[in-house]
Amino acid sequence: MKKFALAVFTFILLGSQGAACLADDLRPPLLLTGSHQRDSQDLSGPWTYSRDLYRTGLTDINGWVAKSRMQRYRDIDVAAEEAKGGATFFEFDMDRGPVMTIPGAWNAAQPELRYYDGLIWFQRKFNARELRGGRAFLRFEAVNYRAHVYLNGKEVGKHEGGFTPFAVEVSEALRAGENRLVVGVDSQHDAQSIPTQITDWDLYGGITRPVRLVYTPSTFIDDAMLHLNRDGSIAGSVQLNGPGAAGQQVAIRIGDIASVNVTTDAQGRAAVSLPAPRKLQRWSPDSPTLYDVQFAAAGDTLRDRIGFRTIAVDGSRILLNGKPIFLRGVSMHEEEFGPNPARNMSEQASRALLGEIKHKLHGNYVRLSHYPHSETTLRLADEMGLLVWSEIPVYWTVDWDNPAVLRKALAMQAETIYRDRNRASVILWSVGNETPVSAPRTRFHAAMAANVRALDPTRLISAALLVERDKDVTTINDPLLEQLDVLAVNTYAGWYGDDRLADLPGLKWNVPANRPLILSEFGADALAGYHDAGVKKFSEEYQAAYYRNTLAMADRIATLAGMSPWVLKDFRSPRREHPLLQNGWNRKGLLSETGARKQAFDVLADYYKQKN
Ligand code: GCU
Repeated sequence: MKKFALAVFTFILLGSQGAACLADDLRPPLLLTGSHQRDSQDLSGPWTYSRDLYRTGLTDINGWVAKSRMQRYRDIDVAAEEAKGGATFFEFDMDRGPVMTIPGAWNAAQPELRYYDGLIWFQRKFNARELRGGRAFLRFEAVNYRAHVYLNGKEVGKHEGGFTPFAVEVSEALRAGENRLVVGVDSQHDAQSIPTQITDWDLYGGITRPVRLVYTPSTFIDDAMLHLNRDGSIAGSVQLNGPGAAGQQVAIRIGDIASVNVTTDAQGRAAVSLPAPRKLQRWSPDSPTLYDVQFAAAGDTLRDRIGFRTIAVDGSRILLNGKPIFLRGVSMHEEEFGPNPARNMSEQASRALLGEIKHKLHGNYVRLSHYPHSETTLRLADEMGLLVWSEIPVYWTVDWDNPAVLRKALAMQAETIYRDRNRASVILWSVGNETPVSAPRTRFHAAMAANVRALDPTRLISAALLVERDKDVTTINDPLLEQLDVLAVNTYAGWYGDDRLADLPGLKWNVPANRPLILSEFGADALAGYHDAGVKKFSEEYQAAYYRNTLAMADRIATLAGMSPWVLKDFRSPRREHPLLQNGWNRKGLLSETGARKQAFDVLADYYKQKN
């Protein structure tokens, strides 16, 4: 931590140089980029579990030593032990425990776990093959919130953060034949977590995305990235991992339009650059062209499907491939349709949501709020042609002055950027949502912005800012503006507060003239099917009128470059407990939780159709 605090200090002093060395320090030890196309075993399916509310199975920093009879991660056949009789007894049995389908949050799995917030141990038994000199890794796409991973009784890794992937090497712990994987998942958030305890979305604890056992040769390609430069040339990097990583030839092929060979340095890393391929079709929402890209080295191959496009700002315009674009979007949580969602974002579930935006709302953009969504969703955005705003959950407030918390945020950003930097759809990295202005907060966000610039200078940086109102004039008064490429604000005039709907079109915006502005949120609750001629709040009529008037207001903002109204679908939130109108759901969706379309949906769809 001392080293890190020093590094933070250096980077505040040195700016981008400091950020660059810090970014290197933040690189996840293992990336396994493209692992969904690797030789691997998907461990989805039935897992057994054991609740552990008092964390008896976890030896923790507070000096609690887990009693062996409570250590759920032990590689032990309890039934067989019990059959032997004798004094020894156990207060768990992972083999005969209740079963839950993984991936998916426990809150939706069992009624008694609906509001469970704490530690649960999960076990998956699986068969593995001989490695014959190769290596094996476990890759988790997301575990909310803290994960403690054991294989055959040995601790192989841990992770903090509910929405980003992590991988651990298990070449030594793995057995040929049957293996016992035990994962302790602790959903508890606190004042030092990201996010902290209070948000406007549901907890969704558990192993919420797929887990894979990945096989590789002894030397393999851990990461590879390519992007299009503004001059049309292509650049990137390759990182090998293993005894044969240094001085290795890497053959790179981009579909049938280009190829190049590079050689790795002593650290197994190689920079890639090649001139603009003549036949390159650029990626855009209207033509989301993706190329099959292959990296081959040391007998290993990494494949990915990559689109090539440029994104930039020019005064108050956002330029995609050099042309101005208006972002016709909506915000969305990672929550599938249905009355009892488990945050299990299968391809089908994700396609259903993104399809509403692309094909029904006539949208070309989605804000994936307030945390990194699943890799499945990002790949679908690439394939379907939807531009993406991506953020990590620095939401409302975090422990701004705490270097350990800053390190978590920067590490979470690094995990997200390394995971998604080959996704053409992603154009914006956001560093925060609705965080009240203060010096420690602005320093924190500035560090995040510098981190993003060091990790990925090819994309734009933004943040969803709060606004100030003086009578009918809205202003952004935030020192963080200097750090951002694109300004974004959340505004709820006409819902929170007492503005009359009729006054909305007349509201004035006092914002910088030479910067693109996005309305990152605006919205009003409506209970699907509740109609009121008097246009009362929570009625569909109110929400539709709210949209009409807010869009009229938006049309008068000269620097407006896009919007992502709040929100595509009603979503679960423990802060919304009106028994008749909300019942645990935030009702600002344009669609109900089961997909029923509200009147406002058509208001926005018509608006985007004429803007297209
Ligand atoms: C905020 C916040 C959202 C929240 C929304 C609301 O702006 O960013 O997470 O759900 O307002 O109040 O509905």
